[in-house]
Amino acid sequence: MTTRAESEIRRRIVERGPIPFAEFMDVALYWPRGGYYSAAGGPAASGSEGDGPFGPGGDYYTSPMTHPAFGALLSVQLYQFWLLLDRPHPFWVVEPGSGNGQLCRDILQAAKSLPDGFSDSLRYLCLDRSHQWASLLPPQSIPVAADGLPLRNVRGCVVSNELLDSFPVHQVRVEQGSLREVYVALQSDNSSGDDRLVERLGEPSTPDLAVRLQQLGIKLDEDQTAEISLGLDSWASSVAGALEAGFVLTIDYGRRAEDLYSAELRPRGTLVTYYRHTQTDTPFRQIGRQDITAQVDFTSVVNAGRRAGMEPLGYATQGQFLRNLGFDQLRRRVTSTPMPVDQAVANRAGILALTRADGLGDFKVLVQGKNLPPGVAGLPELWGFSQGPEVRDLVQGLSLPLLSPRHISLPQGWPQSAVQEFVLDDLMNGPFGDT
Ligand SMILES: C[S@@+](CC[C@H](N)C(=O)[O-])C[C@H]1O[C@@H](n2cnc3c(N)ncnc32)[C@H](O)[C@@H]1O
Repeated sequence: MTTRAESEIRRRIVERGPIPFAEFMDVALYWPRGGYYSAAGGPAASGSEGDGPFGPGGDYYTSPMTHPAFGALLSVQLYQFWLLLDRPHPFWVVEPGSGNGQLCRDILQAAKSLPDGFSDSLRYLCLDRSHQWASLLPPQSIPVAADGLPLRNVRGCVVSNELLDSFPVHQVRVEQGSLREVYVALQSDNSSGDDRLVERLGEPSTPDLAVRLQQLGIKLDEDQTAEISLGLDSWASSVAGALEAGFVLTIDYGRRAEDLYSAELRPRGTLVTYYRHTQTDTPFRQIGRQDITAQVDFTSVVNAGRRAGMEPLGYATQGQFLRNLGFDQLRRRVTSTPMPVDQAVANRAGILALTRADGLGDFKVLVQGKNLPPGVAGLPELWGFSQGPEVRDLVQGLSLPLLSPRHISLPQGWPQSAVQEFVLDDLMNGPFGDT
């Protein structure tokens, strides 16, 4: 069945000829009448139990949905940001791509148990390009439906989880020594009589693609395919424009450019699609009903940030970052709390998943700063990167984060992919294997 997003794509191709893959992806994900993240055609409409694509009835899991320990530990890092900024009141936390608001909910809950009136100063703004989750956001948050950051004078932090991987990407390939771009075209299909969507190589739609690779010092091999997210530059400008002073905390899957664009490791790029927890690379199927995503080039995020006036302050895997913030201590508190066995297993599975080296633990965390007070502006020892001794007491004082009905229960929504296999001893009573 042709979806409304697909009809729009076909209409554009008939009208103008083949369109760049980035434009195809933008319509498939965000077309207001039928894009994946729009209320009318996406996961909410396909029966995902109201929480969007992020839960058991959706297409993939994210860290906030997996266990509230994620938000609780991030709140400890936010508390340090607040201290470093001299305890501004209000202290703004702006979360673009906030989706169903679960991270906001967990951060606000944990912040209540942090000292010095931090919670009273905290103001949380949930911002998303999609309007569909406004009714799910916690009442203490301020909802904004916007693409970009239409804000000024923010003193605080811009935090995002899995936002940048959902930016539309251009696809390029080297053919006979020249850089070419992947376009989406229509080709007649004799067997069905219908035209089908196919890939077609053409001249790059913008010189910015070659410029980006040049800036990175990346030379692609013959026949190598790679994704380029040109939206990162305007995104960095809009974050820097919004932030008067403070931090940018970005969490996503991805890697540094030299690794991401390795011809040996990733000759076909990193574009994947998700539908009902199944990962494939078939963007022309289920258009508007499946997620399309590519790994984030963190070198370009850092470069774009620098050009916009934001300095990188630290980069680590999610596993390392959470451990520095007291993950092991919090995990022990959670797993030693008496509770019915099904809840104990679900909490263990959820918390373990956050740091697994073959899953969420391999996500990357980047912190950038802008206009930090003198004395902080050098390279502040951020707890997420250096395991400050202060963290112990703070984590001990956190209200215990336990799965709520809003989170997913991994054992019940166990996906087919090998990424989420667990050792049963770990889940029941054995030593909790550190990954
Ligand atoms: C992969 S989801 C992540 C949701 C949530 N952060 C989580 O971790 O569960 C990406 C979200 O970013 C939103 N988004 C994508 N581009 C955006 C933009 N330019 N501005 C604001 N939100 C955007 C999408 O609508 C979607 O809700």
